[in-house]
Amino acid sequence: MDTFGTLVTGIAALNAVGLLVTAFAERRAGQSPATPLPDTKMQPARLDRIRETFRFFGAWLRSPLRVAAIAPSSTALARLMTAEISGSTGPVIELGPGTGPFTRALLARSVREEDLALVEFGEPFARALSLAFPHAQTLCIDAAELDTVDLFGGRYAGAVVSGLPLLSMPEKKVEAILRSAFGKLSTDGAFYQFTYGPRCPVSLAVLERLGLKAERISGTFANLPPASVYRLRRAAAFVPQLPKAGN
Ligand SMILES: C[S@@+](CC[C@H](N)C(=O)[O-])C[C@H]1O[C@@H](n2cnc3c(N)ncnc32)[C@H](O)[C@@H]1O
Repeated sequence: MDTFGTLVTGIAALNAVGLLVTAFAERRAGQSPATPLPDTKMQPARLDRIRETFRFFGAWLRSPLRVAAIAPSSTALARLMTAEISGSTGPVIELGPGTGPFTRALLARSVREEDLALVEFGEPFARALSLAFPHAQTLCIDAAELDTVDLFGGRYAGAVVSGLPLLSMPEKKVEAILRSAFGKLSTDGAFYQFTYGPRCPVSLAVLERLGLKAERISGTFANLPPASVYRLRRAAAFVPQLPKAGN
């Protein structure tokens, strides 16, 4: 076997082991009383999950830097990423939904499909998302171009949920993405981002330039790899006068 074959086989094996560990950890987390989300609404059937994992892995093989993970996020991480969101949050923008684990969690939290905008750069992912969630607005664009499109008939969003691999992007790109996302968010809206790294994936310099503050709100080992969730908001001193979500 050549080097590439060895690498792919190694990663596939790692993926399989990681998924087993994640499934075990998720099963244990599911026994905890602090998980108020109905799993049945979030979990695709077992066979669909396997298909989804292979589809995701294939996308990673084709574009490792853009996809930046070898398996979709776990339901445990999806639960944490959406924990502060409900049907009363108003419209929600999802950046980099991939195969849709956070999308399903948002729907399980009573966000209306019509109140979802799914921004996904990968064409096969975007096509599958628009078939699976026909009432959501699916946009196959770079998240940095969000300011060029009209969402929700001009209403501001109450939250942004981001699965984007910010750690593998240049700082200028991260700044452009955050600038356009916050341009679509209501004054008190929040931007949720997960990371596999030990600190916030947005540098202090970018946060300061955009007048934002970041806080780590949770984390889980029931994901491959373990992940932390950050909430970004406008720092109080910079809050411009924008309407509430939905107005
Ligand atoms: C780490 S995967 C996360 C997928 C999914 N949210 C999950 O948690 O399983 C990153 C996703 O972001 C998408 N993506 C990467 N860069 C993007 C960009 N600039 N604009 C929009 N989507 C992007 C990738 O195609 C991929 O679907």
